[in-house]
Amino acid sequence: MKVGIDLISFYTPQYYLDLKTLAGERGVDPDKFTIGIGQEKMAIPPPDEDIVTMAASAAHPILEQAGREGIELLLFATESGIDHSKAAAMFLHGLLKLPTRCRAVELKQACYSATAGLQLAASMVAAQPDRKALIVGSDIARYDLRSPGEPTQGAGAVAMLVTANPSVLALDPETGLYAEDVMDFWRPNYREEALVDGKYSMRVYLTALEECWKQYTERSGRQFHDLARYCYHLPFTRMAEKAHIRLAKIAALKELTSAELETEIGDSLRYNRITGNTYSASLYEGLTSLLDHGADDLVGQRIGLFSYGSGCMGEYFSGVVQPGYRDHLFTARLRALLDGRTELTYRQYEDIFQLGFPTDGGDHAFAQYRTGPYRLAGVSQHKRLYEKVI
Ligand code: HMG
Repeated sequence: MKVGIDLISFYTPQYYLDLKTLAGERGVDPDKFTIGIGQEKMAIPPPDEDIVTMAASAAHPILEQAGREGIELLLFATESGIDHSKAAAMFLHGLLKLPTRCRAVELKQACYSATAGLQLAASMVAAQPDRKALIVGSDIARYDLRSPGEPTQGAGAVAMLVTANPSVLALDPETGLYAEDVMDFWRPNYREEALVDGKYSMRVYLTALEECWKQYTERSGRQFHDLARYCYHLPFTRMAEKAHIRLAKIAALKELTSAELETEIGDSLRYNRITGNTYSASLYEGLTSLLDHGADDLVGQRIGLFSYGSGCMGEYFSGVVQPGYRDHLFTARLRALLDGRTELTYRQYEDIFQLGFPTDGGDHAFAQYRTGPYRLAGVSQHKRLYEKVI
């Protein structure tokens, strides 16, 4: 029996900052951002949007199409938690009106946790094929203003319905895993912005990739040429290019041409380049981008996926694209969202950044910005208040 992703939907906020604007403000050559790190725009969530509203907006089209029946597991992957005790999954469960017979929890391991969710969900479905799982990854990537990480900020959420006999991607059972306690990127509980040892984080990412790949090939017997396309965790698109060039070198003893690089990973980078890092969602944003943009029919093709979360945890796995997958994508909906976004001025970006979330414990009503179908209306008596917009 096949198990995997039946439906996948990506959502990102409706506001962005052009990195050329940021480069101008910081006195940096814009090519450093657009070519050196490979990013054009970064998504900025307005004050009435958070990880819960983004996750709900990502899941909305899936539930419209597939309904709620049989969803018995809800896993909310995030590293932008909003409460130390109550899982973001509970807020989401309420907003989406999911069945009360449902196991709902929040998962954390930096950008990796949505992959943990996907694999846990696949195990549950393999054991109980009539059950379904909804996995979301939702994050806001936030670094200090004027820090090297600033141009790699972003925001977004992915939702995936995991079922038996999936419509989009059937997962292979073999995986390569790598866990090591390192301090490459972290966010202590008293900080809103992540701390990072940037260059070191890139080296650890590549080490994790090599170790995971080695194990994956040993367990699966597959080699580099057995995979048709490759998706990577995307802190920024140049990272995936560096990773893929390294993988080709160690796995196939091959120097990739730029045409090969474009064919093998190009389509998976298109959304990330204009949203920035979406942390737990970013690998699956890449998968969505690949499936939405691929001019070639990918039916029957095997896709390699590398998930990385700082701290660190890596996993290499793969899946096979299913017949008719294109009929199950939400490409037009996402295209309309991306085309309709509003560009912010530098001043607006910094005002939103400085506003943050109120920490005075008082009651606040939030002004209404453009959001998806759900918004954060305010906070009252220390409780977040969500509402449906449409
Ligand atoms: P930096 O120090 O600003 O950049 O930090 P740089 O000086 O190294 O320049 C970057 C690239 O731009 C270089 O290319 C330059 O040569 C090039 P490279 O040598 O690497 O090939 N460059 C130019 N290119 C064209 N025209 C120019 C020009 N000038 C320079 N004029 C860094 C870069 C990525 C370190 C920083 O942005 C950062 O700290 N980012 C955050 C950390 C990060 O994203 N790490 C990635 C791996 S860890 C990970 O993926 C996990 C994560 O997602 C978190 C999680 O798991 O939760 C982050």
